[in-house]
Amino acid sequence: MPSWAGICLLLGLARAEKEYLLDTSKQTTELSRSGWHFPDSSKWQDVTSYDENRDMIRALQACPRQKSEDSWVISPFIDTKGARNVELEIKYAIRSCAKMSGSFCREKFSILVNQSTSLDRPRIAPSTQDTTQWTLVDTVASTEDITVEQINIGPLFGNGIFIAFVNTGACMELSHVKVSYKYCPAVVADFAEFGRTHTGATAASIINQEGVCVENAIQNGDKPSYHCGSDGFWRLSSASCNCKSGYQGDDDGQKCLECPAGTYKSSPGRGQCQRCPRNSSSRPGSKDCTCESGHFRAGSAGPCLALPGPVENLRAQSLNSTNVLLSWKRPRIGDETVYRVLCSECAEESSCMPCINVDLPTGTIDRTEVELANLDRSKEYRFEVQSENAASESALEAGYTTKKIAVTLARTIPNRLVVKNLRLLSLAHDSADFLLFFEEHPAAEGRKRSKSS
Ligand SMILES: *[C@@H]1O[C@H](CO)[C@@H](O)[C@H](O)[C@H]1NC(C)=O
Ligand SMILES: *[C@@H]1O[C@H](CO)[C@@H](O)[C@H](O)[C@H]1NC(C)=O
Ligand SMILES: *[C@@H]1O[C@H](CO)[C@@H](O)[C@H](O)[C@H]1NC(C)=O
Repeated sequence: MPSWAGICLLLGLARAEKEYLLDTSKQTTELSRSGWHFPDSSKWQDVTSYDENRDMIRALQACPRQKSEDSWVISPFIDTKGARNVELEIKYAIRSCAKMSGSFCREKFSILVNQSTSLDRPRIAPSTQDTTQWTLVDTVASTEDITVEQINIGPLFGNGIFIAFVNTGACMELSHVKVSYKYCPAVVADFAEFGRTHTGATAASIINQEGVCVENAIQNGDKPSYHCGSDGFWRLSSASCNCKSGYQGDDDGQKCLECPAGTYKSSPGRGQCQRCPRNSSSRPGSKDCTCESGHFRAGSAGPCLALPGPVENLRAQSLNSTNVLLSWKRPRIGDETVYRVLCSECAEESSCMPCINVDLPTGTIDRTEVELANLDRSKEYRFEVQSENAASESALEAGYTTKKIAVTLARTIPNRLVVKNLRLLSLAHDSADFLLFFEEHPAAEGRKRSKSS
């Protein structure tokens, strides 16, 4: 639904245009020189006259004083250029019979039209009622005042027309004859171009004209259409063209303009270009923005974020025999950083496995310390803290790795050792000191020394 402002704007832009096919007011030489035909019996005279501004004009005058044959004057062939109807404008004055001496007087004249496909001038008809070649368009009657009258002639089917003025006894002057047709001018509306369009044959006619989308606009559904009314005004455009991605429309639907650098428009439509999010940029005419170096897109359309660096000062602090506090400092770089805590337990030096019993936070956390419970102090643990943010996934796809820092929590020797191969060795005969040898169970290789008294 277009807004009211939009409709007013469109009506304001559309202008009705007229093209003149014949205009005797512009003529300064005899009308007969430009193809006007005066049959032998005609009382019409081709004269120099003056209009109300005292400008010299060519006019047709006739003043038959006695009943005689009808006087004809026939226009030149008027090429109607495909128009389906034309407007005839005449300016004339008929003298009142009351002011005329003599017995014979009329106050009217007739207008006849012949539609033709050739330049062959039709013969004059025996009477204005004879319709073999001529059609009576109007019989004009008026007072003495100078009158301007418009008469519609249509529907037209030929290439052109001849117009005849038939005087049956009026003393009159025809000061100008103009023939024009209205058209809807070539126009751009709602991002579509429409060619110059002839109005229809009748006043009720509406011609549906198809258009083409302007440069950098795309069609959405049906072809764009605009309706040319008989008054030469365009009405009701279909608005089916829209500026494509990377282009935005100007206010009056004329042009699709490139989105300036630093802005983007992701889809076709009426929308405007949007500013690139923080840490991204674009070239003119862009559908999207590119993250600046070191920044990656969060999701498919999120902001560009700086990847976090590694956390600093990671420490594992035993709270008691089962709980450990992991703490660290935020990385120096990175937007909206969160942390993932990873844990592995190492029974033997080189074989580490993901922790099974330790309670770890699920997913990511944004705090910089976490207490871990359920540790087994006879095991060695390796904790890693990985820094990441919403852009890490797209960064990984681009070949970047997330930053991890590890800390090892060494096993603590249990309070009571299970040992094997325990041996006692006397240090000296005169001493109560012994040396105690044992092997830790189950690891056989560690040999510990202890001294006791
Ligand atoms: C107009 O005049 C031409 C030439 O005489 C004739 O051939 C044609 O039929 C006439 N047109 C009409 C509609 O009578
Ligand atoms: C990213 O955006 C932030 C905030 O607008 C700014 O301080 C920083 O300089 C930007 N980084 C780059 C590389 O432009
Ligand atoms: C260790 O401390 C936590 C509280 O911080 C406590 O819930 C837990 O029972 C303690 N474990 C031992 C073995 O004392």
